[in-house]
Amino acid sequence: MGLSTAVCFAAKFHTAAIDIDSARVVQLNSGRVPIHEKGLKPLLEKGLKSRRLSFSSEPSAVEGSDALFIAVGTPSNQDGSIDLAQVRAASVDIGGVIKRAPNKPLVMVRSTVIPGTAREVVKPLLEQSSGKTCGTGFGLCSNPEFLREGTAIQDTMLPQRIVLGPFDDGSLHAASALYRRFYGKKTPPTVVTTPEGAELVKYGSNSLLASRVSFINLIARVCELFPGTDVGDVALGIGLDPRIGRQFLQAGPGFGGSCFPKDIRAFSAYLEGLAIDSSILKSVLRINDFQPEHVVALAEAKAGPLGGKKVAVLGLAFKAETGDVRESRSIPVVKMLLEKGASVHTYDPAASLPKGSGLDSAVRSPSVSECLRGADLAIVMTAWRQFKALRPRDFQALMRTPVLLDARRVYDPKVFSRTLQYFAVGRGEDEKR
Ligand code: UDX
Repeated sequence: MGLSTAVCFAAKFHTAAIDIDSARVVQLNSGRVPIHEKGLKPLLEKGLKSRRLSFSSEPSAVEGSDALFIAVGTPSNQDGSIDLAQVRAASVDIGGVIKRAPNKPLVMVRSTVIPGTAREVVKPLLEQSSGKTCGTGFGLCSNPEFLREGTAIQDTMLPQRIVLGPFDDGSLHAASALYRRFYGKKTPPTVVTTPEGAELVKYGSNSLLASRVSFINLIARVCELFPGTDVGDVALGIGLDPRIGRQFLQAGPGFGGSCFPKDIRAFSAYLEGLAIDSSILKSVLRINDFQPEHVVALAEAKAGPLGGKKVAVLGLAFKAETGDVRESRSIPVVKMLLEKGASVHTYDPAASLPKGSGLDSAVRSPSVSECLRGADLAIVMTAWRQFKALRPRDFQALMRTPVLLDARRVYDPKVFSRTLQYFAVGRGEDEKR
């Protein structure tokens, strides 16, 4: 998020980006991108070439800035609650920078943080380390973002909304002016609320989207009980109601990624701390946690005991168009398959299993063909375009026994079940005719 924000802002503004990882800073200053993200490399190169963009590990590099964005990570503590250590450290560093500022800089909290963080954590730390007062010495505004991995650049360049939670009128004017200068006529609708309101918009959005995914996965389980019943049809029937809408009703192996699981855990822990019933969020997580187990149970039900069999897992990334495996459902699936004694071969065009995850015995194949060759079962875990383009004959020609479990529901069952033993999450097995 920080990197996407920086390269996008550099299209118009002089932008200095700080990271404590000095190796990454060197990498970025030489134009090399550390992640798989569409459109990132050309913007990075353009920003560096124009000299409007630079990276440093020294906080002093952002001295003199008109606006400073806190875009650090907010991981989970052991108990699921939010870990604000990076937010604290960034606030102290920024305070040190604005101490010497002759202007009145604006600080924007863009990291996902639980309600009250900007007021109770960021503001006092900025005030302490700068010796200045919020409102007179510097501006402060909660400003969550909603970018998705894989479309981070597009989402930053053309967001659907801007959410601002300013601490005072001056901060609101400065933040609005900044975005008007950046987006011009394309400035998206802006919601202005309190800092806590802005912080809640982010948790509300992510929780509701994740709930939809778990909800449709629940419906998918029922569909599997009835021959020929497909959750895609059911989701269409539900989603055509304009009050509901069709997005985020794709059944599959569950949601992963760097945001949904951690944010819902953090929000749930936060609600618990307030003695507010968070069981709705716990159910969303429980359904999601169970989904990989369900994929493996389906695999076993369709392919028989997995011990000694070669299983091809197509896709490791938590979704297509990213190399990110954080909280990817492929990880527990691979783990369970190994525990069942299967010989697991994986292929992903951009991602690999994290080192030291105890999954080293899974073989990383150099290509889809190698992954499928001689396999007894294939499981599609990520909806990469490359996998969608596969035809039944590809599986037939390469696999020992062509059993295909489509956990992402990317194939047309009518075409695939003609020649393969084709099964999909959310689809009741067709009655044998
Ligand atoms: C999400 C939010 O969409 C974004 O607004 C926020 O800023 C960060 O978190 P991201 O994590 O990039 O973005 O992925 P997203 O596209 O939302 O998908 C999250 C997970 O849900 C993925 O594992 C995806 O495969 C899964 N998903 C999504 C489904 O299983 N079904 C769906 O219908 C939609």
